[in-house]
Amino acid sequence: MRKRFVAGNWKMNLERRSALALCAALKDGVGAKSGASVAVQSTVRVAVAPPFVYLAEVVRALEGSVISVGAQDVGDRVSGAFTGEVSAAMLKDVGAHFAIVGHSERRHVYGEGDVLTNQKLLRTLEAGLEVILCVGETLAERQGKQTESVVARQLTKGLASVARADLARVTLAYEPVWAIGTGQNATPEQASQVHQYLRGVLSGLYDEGAAEGLTIQYGGSVAANNAAAILGAPDVDGALVGGASLKAETFLSILAAGTLVPR
Ligand code: PGA
Repeated sequence: MRKRFVAGNWKMNLERRSALALCAALKDGVGAKSGASVAVQSTVRVAVAPPFVYLAEVVRALEGSVISVGAQDVGDRVSGAFTGEVSAAMLKDVGAHFAIVGHSERRHVYGEGDVLTNQKLLRTLEAGLEVILCVGETLAERQGKQTESVVARQLTKGLASVARADLARVTLAYEPVWAIGTGQNATPEQASQVHQYLRGVLSGLYDEGAAEGLTIQYGGSVAANNAAAILGAPDVDGALVGGASLKAETFLSILAAGTLVPR
């Protein structure tokens, strides 16, 4: 059974003080020994992805809780003269558990392509970390009926040279670009449809067992009022949450919603 996995992607938001206050509130909310938090601890894997500069402190602040910490991006090289880059080994060194690669803002705002995304993913796995690979179509691509070809390409190229055994450390996030930060989430049916399609592609690339084992998050305007419907949709195993992860109250309601819908 795939465990639900809900991760908060803080993007370039918060500053030191508010980030630590959020950590304290999440630790309290998820760690409490009563109420919804008990169900969250046993049924949902929880993570946050702060900006690089706060990673070490956030790791320390969340120590002793079930909340894991990851980075929003990672360098595509091992080490050396790559000004501005942060390596996967450095992420591991400060206690991060995973890195997100191929987020649509990396792809569309910064022009990162499938090959670069794949290199980042490989470096992350080589360093012993887990990775969240994001895929998703733009509005024009959806309207042009290219959703499947786009996400299949992003998945196939993103996972190039990944060994079957390493898939256990890969999570996939389907994030339609038109749904990110727009308040217009994909419907649970739309999300399910693409998740099922992605599982089929993975089955072709590896085998059915690999496809069945893969955790696929949905991302794009997940909020307290739509989380239960989205997390309850077939083949949706969790969520990658942007805006709604910046406030403890809304993120905790999304986590609680994850415990209410049957698997
Ligand atoms: P959003 O972002 O929840 O603010 O739409 C999701 C994401 O980009 O991961």
